[in-house]
Amino acid sequence: MTSRRRRQGSDSVPSCEHPGSALAVRSALAVIVAASVVSAASAEGQHSNAVPLVTIHSGGNKMFFWPDRPIDYQIVVSDTEGRDTLAGTIDPHRVALAFDHVAKLPENFVPPFVDGDLLARLGPGKELIARSNCPICHTVEAGTRRIPTFKAIAERFKGVDAAADYLATRIVSGGSGSWITDGTALMPPHPEFTPEEGRAMALYILALENPEARKDWLPIRGTVTPTSDGSEAAKTQERYVLWASYTDQRLKGKERKTGYAVVAWRAAVLSVTDRAGADGVEEVSSPELGLALAGVRPRGFIQFTGIDLTDVRQLVFVVSDLASAWAGGRIELRIDDILSEPLGQTVFMPRSNQPSLAEVPISIPATPGRHDLFVYLRGLRGDKKGTIALTSIKFLW
Ligand code: HEC
Repeated sequence: MTSRRRRQGSDSVPSCEHPGSALAVRSALAVIVAASVVSAASAEGQHSNAVPLVTIHSGGNKMFFWPDRPIDYQIVVSDTEGRDTLAGTIDPHRVALAFDHVAKLPENFVPPFVDGDLLARLGPGKELIARSNCPICHTVEAGTRRIPTFKAIAERFKGVDAAADYLATRIVSGGSGSWITDGTALMPPHPEFTPEEGRAMALYILALENPEARKDWLPIRGTVTPTSDGSEAAKTQERYVLWASYTDQRLKGKERKTGYAVVAWRAAVLSVTDRAGADGVEEVSSPELGLALAGVRPRGFIQFTGIDLTDVRQLVFVVSDLASAWAGGRIELRIDDILSEPLGQTVFMPRSNQPSLAEVPISIPATPGRHDLFVYLRGLRGDKKGTIALTSIKFLW
């Protein structure tokens, strides 16, 4: 797309990123998972072409999501020829980027192949529409109003020659009578757009006939927000997945290569079944607890490895409250070293005469990064019966 006017805040190439800030982004934020795969595209040349490197930088906790808490991200793609999305030498629209909520993430998840040419055609028009007033009247699909959805427009003009030029003119000049014939609604003119911009929007709308184009492809830099409340999280394997893939452009004599990266967040709950180790505890189960680990020696502990505590301000221990079964004691949280000073601790004494659960909070100071957690369930009086029966830990921010 050629545009006569440059807009402020545009993400399109050429980017105005300063190389200095690019370096800052790279070093300040950790790379989570970067992987690569050779695309299924034809191997027509002998010269091998290296796989582009795709990295996802994300702010905040890299393991847990919280409902309604936004996650900032930025994707960086670079290739062996020295092209780069930060320098603006790789078209950011070619990067397929999606944020999906899945009930269960397959092991070795590989993002689907997405045609970069299609995305490059969509991107500029999509951005112009997002920044204009079109979404006030039009939706992509699932329209309940009489105003045509963009998908309906794409279907009507499918295979029609010169549809892009016709629709570009309609977008810039406005019009009426072709969808709503009773004169009650019309398409307002948009003189602020150049003919090229009108054409970019028309091309985007026409491409929406393709289901792949209708997916909510994200810009390479932005914010996503999980919405699931993770209520059954301890039992479910739901994940939010941010994945990015980039297929390089076809070069003569070279096969195309796809690089990708994936980050997955889980609900902010760990069950005792997620443990990496334990000592001085025994498995118990009951209808109200499900499976739990109970301290049976004065210094029983449960270990979890590689837990990201970034932004976590409180841990809530879900334990049995049944006084006849458990003597109670002290919950201590230590990190990284089994003999370190507790990061937080509290005393809990079960009170109920009915089988039920209690939630025991421990607040912690800011503790960014991944850590091993040691949860001690300590007896206080040398009681013979078990101390505390822990079933899960919720992580709050
Ligand atoms: C105030 C509401 C409104 C806004 C804002 C609006 N449209 Fe429309 N648009 C309509 C209506 C109503 C029609 C149907 C007009 C008709 O029946 O001919 C329409 C029709 C269209 C068509 C189909 C034209 C045809 O001849 O089939 C396209 C394409 C379109 N709009 C694109 C856009 C784009 C792109 C924007 C933003 C730049 C936009 N519209 C903003 C109300 C709106």
